[in-house]
Amino acid sequence: KPITLLEVRSELGAGTRGASMGVDALRVACLNQGSDYFRHYGLDTVPDLNHVLFEPNHFPFAKHIDSIYTVQKGIARAVEMTLRRGEFPLVLSGDHSSANATIAGIKAVYPQKTLGVIWIDAHADIHSPFTTPSGNVHGMPLAAALGDDNLPCQRQQIDAETEFFWRRLQNLGEPGPKLRPEHLVYVAVRDTEAEEDAIIERLGIKHIPVAEVQAKGSRIIAREIYEHLRFCDLVYISFDVDSLDASFSRGTGTPVEDGLYLSEGENLCQDLLDNERVVCFEMGEINPTLDRENTMADNAFGILVKATAAIEKRLRLNEVVGRGEAQ
Ligand code: ARG
Ligand code: MN
Ligand code: MN
Ligand code: MN
Repeated sequence: KPITLLEVRSELGAGTRGASMGVDALRVACLNQGSDYFRHYGLDTVPDLNHVLFEPNHFPFAKHIDSIYTVQKGIARAVEMTLRRGEFPLVLSGDHSSANATIAGIKAVYPQKTLGVIWIDAHADIHSPFTTPSGNVHGMPLAAALGDDNLPCQRQQIDAETEFFWRRLQNLGEPGPKLRPEHLVYVAVRDTEAEEDAIIERLGIKHIPVAEVQAKGSRIIAREIYEHLRFCDLVYISFDVDSLDASFSRGTGTPVEDGLYLSEGENLCQDLLDNERVVCFEMGEINPTLDRENTMADNAFGILVKATAAIEKRLRLNEVVGRGEAQ
């Protein structure tokens, strides 16, 4: 059961330009570190629509949401097909709006299974066009996956066309919500808006702050997260590189101080991936145009290699167990 890399070179959901080159920056990091990582794995590249950035945007409450919807259909399909082939999709994305489509792709294959999501990010990404301060869709993937029955009372008026595409994002793959709030765990979230805080509190979403990761260590944190997600059949892990401290993540659109140290992010990913329910891992928001000497991608590539090794180890283990059972 091999790993397949799904490259998503889209940056339409970000407010700063350049995240579409994140995957290429990872390739450069790979070459500079003398690694053969990108030779090892099957590769699928999802079509992007970044050229629309040269045209005017018609959706102030969800910029380029029409094109993002088209991109997301491609992502969801690629994730779905990879899983159907019995492979592990490892998504390398540009901006984080992609995560809604990744979740939709998983749910398309397993509509009856309960999905848990571990969201490692400085941001909660739980805005919708009704609450967003920026109109950037990378701040919205979790609201799309959760469905917006639970929006706060304070809402801005949006136009009908934006709402039309927002519903389409929410109904990607299977119609209806893909994720329940009790099956979502935040790690390292530390830059949220008041509307997001209200939603998080109302929904009672579990959150593990950076200080707690540092105090307890990634082993214990992983155990606690999986205890919280004990009723989930499957788990998806989403790693936004801005979860890392700003000192390691200059090359990302929205860096935030007081984040995870590199080794903490690495250990956390490793320990979380050491669980047989994890069906998909995603890393995104690397923006080399904001960086110096590609350090963001260098750092992220280190985590990616460790994370991939953890996935591989588990897949091999499953194989051995599988063969044992067959005898
Ligand atoms: N909450 C802010 C917004 O909605 C920032 C979101 C940043 N998201 C990200 N995936 N980097 O604009
Ligand atoms: Mn994010
Ligand atoms: Mn973020
Ligand atoms: Mn802020």
